[in-house]
This record gives sequence, structure tokens and C-alpha cells, in this order.
Amino acid sequence: MNKKIALTGIKPTGLPHIGNYFGMYVPALELAKEYDTRYFIADYHALNSIKDPVLVQELSYEVAATWLAMGLNPKESILYKQSAVQGTFEFMTFLMAFTSKGLMNRAHSYKAMVQRNIENDKDPDDGVNMGLFTYPVLMAADILQFDSDVVPVGKDQKQHLEMTIDIAQTINHNYKKELLKIPEALIRESTGYVTGLDGRKMSKSYNNTIPLFLPPKKLRKLIMKIVTNSQTVEESKDPKTCSIFSLYKLFANKDQITELENKYLTGGMGWGYAKQELFEVIDATLAPLRDEYNRLIENKDYIDQVLKNGAERANKIVSEKMDFIRKEIGLG
Ligand code: TRP
Repeated sequence: MNKKIALTGIKPTGLPHIGNYFGMYVPALELAKEYDTRYFIADYHALNSIKDPVLVQELSYEVAATWLAMGLNPKESILYKQSAVQGTFEFMTFLMAFTSKGLMNRAHSYKAMVQRNIENDKDPDDGVNMGLFTYPVLMAADILQFDSDVVPVGKDQKQHLEMTIDIAQTINHNYKKELLKIPEALIRESTGYVTGLDGRKMSKSYNNTIPLFLPPKKLRKLIMKIVTNSQTVEESKDPKTCSIFSLYKLFANKDQITELENKYLTGGMGWGYAKQELFEVIDATLAPLRDEYNRLIENKDYIDQVLKNGAERANKIVSEKMDFIRKEIGLG
């Protein structure tokens, strides 16, 4: 029996960080055990905000190297750049004819931008390009062109998936047949989030991230910057409300966790000590991945080759699907 299809994309807009690692890369790669997996680098989505060609290119390589360093097997999974699958953009044009403008008006990210503009006495659409406005349609094309069964995404993408389903249903309804597979969002209802340097959720937009592949010295320096309270060394400390401890739990084993927890509760431990312990567990976990990442990023020819192969496989699937659609809709 054919395996079900899982697909997900990452926008190359910043250095992959520890929040992405637990929230995105690890769970998405887990799916490769059970599904036919397609992973892609959403570089046309990134173009809406990043206009510097060198930067987009560099960030795209970084995302590709991250997927591979994390263990993506390019022989099994398809890894490709969105921009290398031209059929996507024809597919998007097809979807556009069934996407009401009103649906796009309701997109959270667009609405938030308009709201911000209004609050700042600017034109409501200031800084909004059509790529941003139609972002959900391109995303729907990414998904629907592969007949994806499941799409693992973070909570922030839930609405985009609902829009994808909405568009697909409109189309199936119009042609009175299942031209498009209705996908299912696999939303990670992670019980907590990964804490950033300032105690808030780790996120590019808060500028509080710990990048995954920093050299050890820089990693240590960054960890030393985690914001703490002004309790003295002697005082007993609460692990439950501490950012350092919350990060520590993600990387340490059970015994290590219990040991550090005791040090918190007993007192006599300074924040510098806790940070050093945190640095050590993070570094021990990430060192092998970092080595592999560094090896890959120095070997762009290899990445190019993987992406080229991925694009060939993706193009084949997408162009067959588009040929089928063109015939069905009277453009064949
Ligand atoms: N919008 C997603 C994000 O910002 C990235 C993305 C683009 C995506 N196309 C997709 C995710 C298709 C899943 C499926 O994280």
C-alpha cells in the first residue's frame, strides 16, 4: 500500500534556533518513519520580506543544511526549494480563481499589519505587498499540488491550513469531484513552548533566540545572557519559574535534571553555575549536529545536488498533477 504523504515547509528568514529544533525539525522528521515525506525551503515566501539576493541564498542553504544535519535522508524524503518547482506557481494561479479576496482579508498576519498601520496613522496597506496578501494561496498550492495527507505545522499556521482546506473544498464542490485531496493539519499542541533568553517564547520576532549551530564560545556567551532575577547564591531558587531550568529539561537526562533541581531547591548555587550546566548539556547534544552542519555548509555542491534531485522528483509529481487539473478544468 502506498504510504500517506506528509509535507512541510520552512521559510528561510533567519538562523534556525533551538525553538525551531524542538518545535519543527525534530517532530517533522519523526514523520519520515511513517509517511512519504516532502520537506521544502519556502524561498518565494521569504522573498516577501527579504529582498537581498545574497541573504536569501545564504539562508536557504542554511535551512537545507539544517534539515540534512538533523538526519533527513534525501534518498527517502524529497528535499527541495519552492522556487525550483515552477508548477507551483501555475497551481497557485489555478487556486487564485477560487480564493475570495474576503478570505485573504481575514488572514491573521495581514490583519495584524493593517491594524498596526492604522494605529500608527499610516495607510492601512502600507508595506503590504501582494506576495504577503496572497501568502496563504501560495501555501495552499505548496500543499495541494502534492495531494498531501498531513501537514505538520506550529499553531501559528493553523489558519493557513484552514484556508487551504476552504479553497480545496470550493474547488471540489465546483467540479463535483475530488480534484484535490483535503489535507489535515498536524498541529503541535506542544504543552509548553521553548523559552527564549528573556523568558518569553523563543522567537525570531522577539530577538531572544539561541541559534542551533553557534560555535561553543558564542553559545556559552549567549547562554550567560539569559535573564535571571537578583537572588543571591545562598537563596533557594524555584526551578519551575526559571528559564535556565526550563531549557535544561529539554536537553538533560533524568538524573541530571534531578541533580540540578536539588541544587536549585537547596540553595548555595549561583545563576552562573546553572548557566554553565545548561551550556554543557546543550553543547553535548548539539555538537555532533553542529559538526555535520558545518561539514555540509562547506559543501554547497553536495547541497545543490540534493536539492536538484529533490526538485526533479517534485517537478515530476507536480507537473503530472497540473496536467490532470488542466484537463479537468477545460484548459487541457
Ligand atoms: N508558512 C509557513 C511558516 O511560516 C511555511 C510554509 C510555506 C509552509 N508553505 C508551507 C508550511 C506549506 C507547511 C506547508 O512556517
